[in-house]
Amino acid sequence: MMKIAVLSGAGVSAESGIKTFRDGNGLWENHDIMEVASPEGFKRNPALVLDFYNQRRRQLQTVTPNSAYIALAELEKYHDVTIITQNVDDLHERAGSTDVIHLHGELLKARSTVDETLILEWKDDLNIGDCCENNHQLRPHIVWFGEMVPMIEVAAEIIEDADAIIIVGTSMQVYPAAGLIQYAKPDAQVYFIDPNPSINPNKKITVYAEKASTGVPKVVEILAGMS
Ligand code: OAD
Repeated sequence: MMKIAVLSGAGVSAESGIKTFRDGNGLWENHDIMEVASPEGFKRNPALVLDFYNQRRRQLQTVTPNSAYIALAELEKYHDVTIITQNVDDLHERAGSTDVIHLHGELLKARSTVDETLILEWKDDLNIGDCCENNHQLRPHIVWFGEMVPMIEVAAEIIEDADAIIIVGTSMQVYPAAGLIQYAKPDAQVYFIDPNPSINPNKKITVYAEKASTGVPKVVEILAGMS
């Protein structure tokens, strides 16, 4: 049994109908990313930010995991798999993956604007006036630009320990997530699936320049045959 780490980004959800961040016109669902994904943006216009994530949360109910997600969940039959995702959707969990680390938070959680350890499950809209038990406004449980990424050290240890790493659907532009690959063992096998891959030339990486829905099942088939 191998230890396999998966580093996933927005591209793996693209074929489920959730837009990526950097493929289009520089806007994320018609918003400047700093307007809706930064503490400053939330301070300036909390209602707009809450509404933006309410729309993302509603959209989640209309999408389903694609074949890339299903293949990654099936890989658990053969190996010890940990998913490290930058995505805030729950498609990995819905496909059946049991060990998922969300580096950038989760849409289906809310947290206190005052005490970041006070985190609640949140399935419906989140509005101004929705408060935690201590009467503080709640905000989406999302890691915004400029904020700490609390799970990054745990993620680095998992990458360090992995025999094989699958990178899928990420532009590898956002740090610290993009730096995780530097922790890979020199002999770790690294697979990178992305129709428009950004490659780190210093690493030995097997690139599949194709969509997640076809590339991931191919890599999973190869890994499933290894012991
Ligand atoms: P990006 O939007 O930066 O990159 C998406 C990647 O997916 C690109 O490299 C595309 O080529 C690739 N892609 C598109 N369609 C694909 C498909 N069908 N199959 C596979 N790959 C495909 O998304 P991330 O790298 O995830 O943070 O972005 C990182 C972070 O930046 C996000 O977590 C988000 C954003 O700001 C926050 O919201 C805090």
